[in-house]
Amino acid sequence: MAYLELYAVSKRYGAADTPAAIDVLEGVSMTLDAGESMAVVGPSGCGKSTLLNLIGALDRPTAGSIRLDGEPLENLSEEQLAGIRNRKIGFVFQQHHLLPQCTVLENVLIPTLATRRTGAERTADADRAISLLDRVGLTERRDHRPGRLSGGEMQRTAVVRALINRPKLLLSDEPTGSLDQHSAQALGDLLAELNRTEHLALMVVTHSMELARRMHRIYRLENGSLTPAIGVSEK
Ligand SMILES: Nc1ncnc2c1ncn2[C@@H]1O[C@H](COP(=O)(O)OP(=O)(O)O)[C@@H](O)[C@H]1O
Ligand SMILES: [Mg+2]
Repeated sequence: MAYLELYAVSKRYGAADTPAAIDVLEGVSMTLDAGESMAVVGPSGCGKSTLLNLIGALDRPTAGSIRLDGEPLENLSEEQLAGIRNRKIGFVFQQHHLLPQCTVLENVLIPTLATRRTGAERTADADRAISLLDRVGLTERRDHRPGRLSGGEMQRTAVVRALINRPKLLLSDEPTGSLDQHSAQALGDLLAELNRTEHLALMVVTHSMELARRMHRIYRLENGSLTPAIGVSEK
């Protein structure tokens, strides 16, 4: 049993049989295991973010089933889904959504605030935050606010925040989309390294073939279907 399993997942926006209805995903099946990484590429508007939102339990499929760690998400209440999002899934978006009034360290610790922690657990959270920030080269930036960081530094902060609760699955939606080439490469290095060392299941949506090639598998999403991309060419 893989950590993440999708069975014939479909997503329609708008009510069926109305002009507003749009079938974005039509029977997507896939699996992803701990320690595995995959990239999803495809034209703008093909449903990549929709797919990530369903897997991240931010939205529900119209049909089909998504299992995380063996558990079908469709059986869970909104509250249970919120718990799963907090404990099992890390998200990194193109826009990092850091809080401008908080320091880097405080931003990274925000996901830990959703659950009650003992004093010892709070100390362990802070230790993990400090060591992860060190690992991504942000020790000097720990007490700075996001407004003073470069794009690459903000994205690395967002990656650390996504990992603070030790998720098993990291979902990343065009993480390098707003970065220059050097920062994009550094972020790709970081994601690949975390995939290995933290034994994460890593799913990355990207327009960058350079980033996609660093993943174990590359899939193309087009016309509602997900297919292995063979011989994907640059651009
Ligand atoms: N909440 C929504 N309601 C209606 N249509 C949506 C919604 N979200 C996305 N769409 C539509 O679904 C399609 C896929 O969008 P999206 O998943 O964001 O694509 P991508 O991330 O590949 O660019 C687009 O046509 C978009 O306009
Ligand atoms: Mg998108």
